[in-house]
Amino acid sequence: MKRLNRSFNDQPHESVSLDRENNPVSNMVSEARWGLNPMRFMGFVFVCLMVLTVVFSASVILRDLPFDSRLRILAEARLFDVIPPNARVSEDGSHRPVMLQKDKLLGGLLPSGFDERSCLSRHESVLYHKELRQKPSSYLISRLRNYEALHKRCGPHTELYNRSVELFKSGQYRGSADCNYLVWISYSGLGNRILTLASAFLYALLTNRVLLVDPGVNMPDLFCEPFPDVSWLLPPDFPIFSKFSTFDQKSPHCYGYMVKNDIVGNSSGSIVPPFIYLHLAHDYDDQDKLFFCDEDQSFLQKIPWLVMRTDNYFVPFLFLIPSFEQELNNLFPEKETIFHFLSRYLFHPTNSVWGLVMRYYQAYLAQADEKLGIQIRVFDTGVGPFKYFLDQIFTCTMKENLLPRINRGEPIINPSGKQKTIAVLITSLSPGYFEEFRNMYWEHPTVTGEIVGVYQPSQEKHQQTEKLMHDRKALAEMYLLSLTDKLVTSAWSTFGYVAHGLGGLKPWILYKPENKTAHNPPCVRAASLEPCFHAPPYYDCKKKTGTDTSKIVPHVRHCEDVSWGLKLFGHNGEL
Ligand SMILES: *[C@@H]1O[C@H](CO)[C@@H](O)[C@H](O)[C@H]1NC(C)=O
Ligand SMILES: *[C@@H]1O[C@H](CO)[C@@H](O)[C@H](O)[C@H]1NC(C)=O
Ligand SMILES: *[C@@H]1O[C@H](CO)[C@@H](O)[C@H](O)[C@H]1NC(C)=O
Ligand SMILES: [Mg+2]
Repeated sequence: MKRLNRSFNDQPHESVSLDRENNPVSNMVSEARWGLNPMRFMGFVFVCLMVLTVVFSASVILRDLPFDSRLRILAEARLFDVIPPNARVSEDGSHRPVMLQKDKLLGGLLPSGFDERSCLSRHESVLYHKELRQKPSSYLISRLRNYEALHKRCGPHTELYNRSVELFKSGQYRGSADCNYLVWISYSGLGNRILTLASAFLYALLTNRVLLVDPGVNMPDLFCEPFPDVSWLLPPDFPIFSKFSTFDQKSPHCYGYMVKNDIVGNSSGSIVPPFIYLHLAHDYDDQDKLFFCDEDQSFLQKIPWLVMRTDNYFVPFLFLIPSFEQELNNLFPEKETIFHFLSRYLFHPTNSVWGLVMRYYQAYLAQADEKLGIQIRVFDTGVGPFKYFLDQIFTCTMKENLLPRINRGEPIINPSGKQKTIAVLITSLSPGYFEEFRNMYWEHPTVTGEIVGVYQPSQEKHQQTEKLMHDRKALAEMYLLSLTDKLVTSAWSTFGYVAHGLGGLKPWILYKPENKTAHNPPCVRAASLEPCFHAPPYYDCKKKTGTDTSKIVPHVRHCEDVSWGLKLFGHNGEL
């Protein structure tokens, strides 16, 4: 399914990077917004007076116009409306202190001191997202600040990093090192990479390691730096950098391999291997899975460099490792907001991606009274659309009252009062589902008179992991979905997990169709915001036997969409 034909016309980098760094018009806008130059300030006052005059005249004119023309003029006037939709009007009715009023640092989740213009999404996204589902715990906040300090002390090109790399090269690690590291290998599709990077960060936080990110082909193009002062990107001159792609279960440094060949037991002397490769991808075996056992964790703790490859959100299983349990409970008293917090903390789209998000949002979504996201991902072969899945989506959105019914009998419905508008944002590799929905709401009125607009940003036909513009658009689409009010996602899809987790939205999950037949029931409301761990171990480390790991603690249970997967649930997450 991956990297098939290149039906999508990938444009060269320069012609598409209309982000605000390179765009003179928006540069002016952002400078006007941030600059304190007196000339600019006078200009600003002048513009304000003009706007006031226009608004006053408009209100006088509008009073005397018929309703329809009033609506049209107001719609056009919205072009000048620069107040983001979620911005609150202050007590005195003015919109001015919008940026100051909203909590730019998300209740202390984000560190201060970043240059805002180099990464606009970091502080602007708060204006578009719903508020955080809960407040982050003060303990989580203090651990994040400690982590940032550690990262600054041990991160790339610091003295301690240089010393650690020298020791790595010499292979002469003895006793405890000053800084320990976790290297995350860039692997798999974008949705998976976001989930695994969040998992790796939490593991690093729990084990006091410094997280370093293999840039892969495009990670730095997609995400801003999350930690102040020192980069999270692994420098390319790191000794084994070029070997990452060759690491697998048969590598002599692979933990599972070492266990199988009894190398681990022999290394209990004073000299430890400088690094171990952790193979935690979906095809990992019983020995690789020992990573999730306490005994093995206490051994791994001695290894200065751990290098991890995974395509799974393994956070739920960290709760089943007794030595991490208390710390995790302190960090996250509420279990279902872990990815929500971690994703808001770590993943800030770069200006080129943020431009894609904002332009689309302003053009198609901002004005709607209600926004519904529908994320469509079919794992059957072929591009689609598939009639059975289309039927399933229709049935779900009607049954759950997510979209209004249409009236096939009448050409026009005259509602009383203002017509509510609903914007439906569809993401899919195929354009077919979008066309069906759009035509339906064009050809027929809704029973209740709502106006439904249907939009789909991209139609890339095939998942093209690691192509630059494809990934930028994929990230922009996940982000746009996270800005909707209600969300329908597809079972098994990591793209959907990221969208609802970022947004703090409990989605309606479309069951995976089996045997080319619509699933009945069509969808289920998620009971938890957390992503699903698709390939968890079924092993009891103490008893050394297989066991149903969904039965060990009440907050780790099977997922709604993957019956063998594991997922975290909150106190109120009824099944
Ligand atoms: C660490 O090494 C790099 C070269 O690899 C060098 O540019 C940098 O200045 C060094 N850092 C310190 C603090 O010495
Ligand atoms: C580890 O120890 C076993 C015996 O205890 C030995 O057979 C094996 O060769 C050793 N492996 C290494 C890599 O030293
Ligand atoms: C799939 O459909 C075929 C015929 O349509 C049927 O024979 C088969 O049992 C079905 N399989 C499942 C798993 O439902
Ligand atoms: Mg994926």
